[in-house]
Amino acid sequence: MRTLYTASQIASRVAELAARIEADHNGKPLLVLGVLKGSLIFLADLVRQLRLPLRYELIALSSYRKKTDPGELLVYGELPEPEPDEEVLIVEDIVDTGGTMARLTELLERHYGQSAKICALLDKRTRRNHHTVVDYAGFRLDSDDFVVGYGLDYDGHYRNLPYISVLEEEEL
Ligand code: IMP
Repeated sequence: MRTLYTASQIASRVAELAARIEADHNGKPLLVLGVLKGSLIFLADLVRQLRLPLRYELIALSSYRKKTDPGELLVYGELPEPEPDEEVLIVEDIVDTGGTMARLTELLERHYGQSAKICALLDKRTRRNHHTVVDYAGFRLDSDDFVVGYGLDYDGHYRNLPYISVLEEEEL
């Protein structure tokens, strides 16, 4: 395992993202939708830096995936409904093919006529095959590396690492 971003690099980047989000929202209320389970740690750090009126809700999505290959999307439970004055910010751990975010934004649009912005800790662009725009990206990955830590898992493991690491080929 090789460390890609240390805990302190992540903390400074999260603070920068929060400052940008604050500036863009100009005191307007936000509904922050955190995607479980991967965004939990990122979400907890991010919302504590946001000086905006906000609510957060957690949504459980998962794709049937075999190890590292994405599959069909499953949504568990009700889709949280924004209040009329709220803007929606989806918080995700990593955007890879973009499929999960494309389907979630489409659902919000269809159910509530609501558009949403996307904040992702990692924007992995090499495998993008959907038109998904990451409005706030923590770090951009230009490789196909599989990363773990700070909420991200491999088969349920490594989420608790305080840093982000690349899993080497032989560890997958
Ligand atoms: P997408 O639908 O292909 O954009 O997939 C997004 C989801 O794939 C993320 O929420 C993660 O759960 C998972 N994922 C994609 N790449 C990685 C990675 O490098 N490490 C851990 N999870 C990943």
